Amino acid sequence: MHPGRDEQYPLDYDMLERQASALLENVGNFLANASNFAAFVYRSLPEVNWAGFYFPDNQGLVLGPFGGKPACTRLPRGKGVCNRAFESGKPMIVDDVRAFDDHIACDPASRSELVVPIVDGSAVYGVFDVDSPRTSRFTRRDAQGVQRLLKQFVTHTPLPPEYRTVHTSTRINERIDVQTCRDHHTVLRYLADEVGKEDRPAERVRMLQRLRTILTAHLKLEDEWLYPRLAGSANGIVRGKAERYRREMGGLRGHFDRLWKRWSVEGAMASEPDAWRAEWRRFEEALQSRIASEDHDLYVAAEADFSEPR
Ligand code: SME
Repeated sequence: MHPGRDEQYPLDYDMLERQASALLENVGNFLANASNFAAFVYRSLPEVNWAGFYFPDNQGLVLGPFGGKPACTRLPRGKGVCNRAFESGKPMIVDDVRAFDDHIACDPASRSELVVPIVDGSAVYGVFDVDSPRTSRFTRRDAQGVQRLLKQFVTHTPLPPEYRTVHTSTRINERIDVQTCRDHHTVLRYLADEVGKEDRPAERVRMLQRLRTILTAHLKLEDEWLYPRLAGSANGIVRGKAERYRREMGGLRGHFDRLWKRWSVEGAMASEPDAWRAEWRRFEEALQSRIASEDHDLYVAAEADFSEPR
């Protein structure tokens, strides 16, 4: 790392973020916002000789609005720093472009470079590239700062749908995550079955505890990833389905929490076995029917949506 580099640039990204938001909001035009955004970053970051957009087409990345000298118009797919950031969806910092083989030189004066992908949910729309005539000009703090500025850009700008790109690796990960949700269901179904068959109350509580652990992990995955991901679907039916399932899941969680609170107390099941059995049956029925409808409806819709060409 390079100690002290940040101190040289105590850039106030909070302020820049507010300025970017004020500059871009209420415009509603892609080209106007992209142009102003590039000029704004170019003028706001010290020791920068170029700042601008590259957007995808069928051959790679094509130059968009920028501040600075005229630059390379095309970056062929798979080549250069911008394409790497675009394909990985992660920012890239190159401290010394001369020591970095896979760098496309547009201006011989450039020494270091920061490229930040334009990300919205699981899609990438292109990259924003910043060049400096000084080696090691950019830190992780700059990468995070420019990411925050781009977030303002994405929030306030209608992005052309033809730029929306979801990379194969992202899609594979999405499929794996749905499979993980299905696997949770298998374990939950098994544990619920075991709880129902178990006669010894202490063992039952132990199984209930395992069920609780898996249920918590499962709901977290659905709440933090699946529902937000489906809420961004281009398909209105999928969005509606996700919203309905999300709302209904709250009920099941509450049901389990009440059951757990009452029956995990030592001696509770043994002293009121009939009440326990009745409440467990109600919960188990709700759980099994929920699992079945997610498996056959929600996850099927998610898998279809995730394999849509985007
Ligand atoms: N250096 C970039 C090309 C863009 S210019 O720097 C403006 C790259 O390697 O992708």
